[in-house]
Amino acid sequence: MRAIEEIVPERADTPTLQVERVRRDFPILQRPMNGRPLVYLDSAASAQKPQAVLDEMTRFMREDYANIHRGVYALSQRATALYDAAREKVARFIHAADAREIVFVRNATEGINLVASSYGRHFLEEGDEVLLTQMEHHANIVPWQLLRQDKGISLRVAPITDEGELDMEAFERMLTDRVKLVSVVHVSNSLGTVNPVKQIVSLAHGRGIPVLIDGSQAVQHMPVDVRDLDADFYVFTGHKVYGPTGIGVVFAKLRHLEAMPPYQGGGLMILSVTFERTELAPPPQKFEAGTPNIVGAVGLGAAIDYVSSLGLADIHAHESALLAYGTELLREIPGLRLIGTAREKSSILAFVMDGMSPQAIGAALGRSGVAVRVGHHCTQPLMDRLGIPGTTRASIGLYNTREDIEALAISLRRL
Ligand code: ALA
Repeated sequence: MRAIEEIVPERADTPTLQVERVRRDFPILQRPMNGRPLVYLDSAASAQKPQAVLDEMTRFMREDYANIHRGVYALSQRATALYDAAREKVARFIHAADAREIVFVRNATEGINLVASSYGRHFLEEGDEVLLTQMEHHANIVPWQLLRQDKGISLRVAPITDEGELDMEAFERMLTDRVKLVSVVHVSNSLGTVNPVKQIVSLAHGRGIPVLIDGSQAVQHMPVDVRDLDADFYVFTGHKVYGPTGIGVVFAKLRHLEAMPPYQGGGLMILSVTFERTELAPPPQKFEAGTPNIVGAVGLGAAIDYVSSLGLADIHAHESALLAYGTELLREIPGLRLIGTAREKSSILAFVMDGMSPQAIGAALGRSGVAVRVGHHCTQPLMDRLGIPGTTRASIGLYNTREDIEALAISLRRL
């Protein structure tokens, strides 16, 4: 086994991001863990929060807080303006044409449930097919199974290769006239595979089939342009893009939102109500029944400001360099097998080791202050396809350093 220094000798920051300065923006990274510096390699599960997000959420509650859209007084109008501004920020972030195409939900899971319940129940018929892939998160499987129970649709699953790439020939073959929706992950949370979503959309649209993209592991790592992708639906969650929990986003083309029935009924999603009938508000309000997560939306807006100030292209370059470095270091460890070796990858180093369960590896790493995730990562069908019960997964965020990756490799070498 070669020494770590022999593998990649230079130790400087990647030139794209001033990572030591960035790290100072995240108070939790200054906190020791088990008496050692915290090495946080679990950002795919949830990312840490910069001071700017914490400050803006507290400031909002201290200075500008009130319920939105209801009050005629200044504070409510100010809170409403900030909530609406957060929607505009999201629209700009993913290059949506119009902020009305942005619906706030709780998380990406709720986003997919919204599309399955609203679009799926209304537009899909018995015998129609929804085409998924073998690398989907449970959040992009179970809502369609629920719809299958209700509507008698069928689910088709496009296979992957042993490296963890989508088999595009099989995918294209499976795009028959029976398929009425494609729902596919942009970046796999378990493998790091970056799917060719633009090509997928283009192939599907060639047959008139709309496409939902689960961007939960994408928007924080690379620039995303929903107009360039021509996505019909694109969902992501706030807490993985350095914002708070409890806030997520559905982007949908306006014509879909206009045609879809609401997901839930209640206040704020109506224009008028009598006991006889309700006149619905236009999108996006039609899909936001009840008092929304106002503080969460403001926090997400601050998170988007933060990552945009660093620049997604630079974040991507920084994380790609760390991923390449980590791949080299881990490949040198005897008995370790990387899971997910696609040519296009982002931010995920998942692996199994001879003679040790992921749980035992994760616990041992935890004792060294290295935080990783273990298990099936909510992708049990993918684990079945790979013939493994689970993996240990280190996932990279914008604040990670070469030293973090080395700490992981050194702790693994000691096992
Ligand atoms: N889906 C999240 C993950 O991959 C929780 O860890």
